[in-house]
Amino acid sequence: MKKNIVLIGFMGSGKTSVGKRLSLNLKKEFIDMDDFIEKREGMTVSEIFEKKGEMCFREMEKELCRRFAVPKGKIIATGGGVIKNAENVANLKKGGVIIYLSSSPERIAYNLRYDNSRPLLAGENKEKKIAKLMNERKSLYEKCADITIDVSQMNLDGTLNKIYELLEL
Ligand code: S3P
Repeated sequence: MKKNIVLIGFMGSGKTSVGKRLSLNLKKEFIDMDDFIEKREGMTVSEIFEKKGEMCFREMEKELCRRFAVPKGKIIATGGGVIKNAENVANLKKGGVIIYLSSSPERIAYNLRYDNSRPLLAGENKEKKIAKLMNERKSLYEKCADITIDVSQMNLDGTLNKIYELLEL
């Protein structure tokens, strides 16, 4: 398959773990957008938000999505906010098939219970922040997905098998 496989979904829905395993199993290059940006900038996403601002991070995401408009058979794990920008969605769609890993706020909160790396969820009331952001974004994820998989009750292997089945791999 020449198309990219693009994973979208909320923070902590498993995009990076799924992407890494897909890459290993399908022997295709894996790119984690946050990781790519962090390495290039020499800063964590939290530091970029703090020192350069969220707008600047969103520009970096946009620039990266432009490169993914070409189908090159890559596996791409996006950042959870990538779908907020219509140009990003159009570019990702041009280059690949978009898989939405849909998860419940409860499962997300569980997955991220020890995580402090997401600036948008930092501080008090993580659950509330997750619920609010999820509410704002859910329809965007659904709208731009070619395939939606509800992973809230699934483990990694279950998710991978579902992807293989739906992509007929
Ligand atoms: C964000 C999600 C994060 C990261 C940044 C902003 C978001 O990526 O890009 O913290 O707006 O949902 P993950 O979805 O990989 O956590």
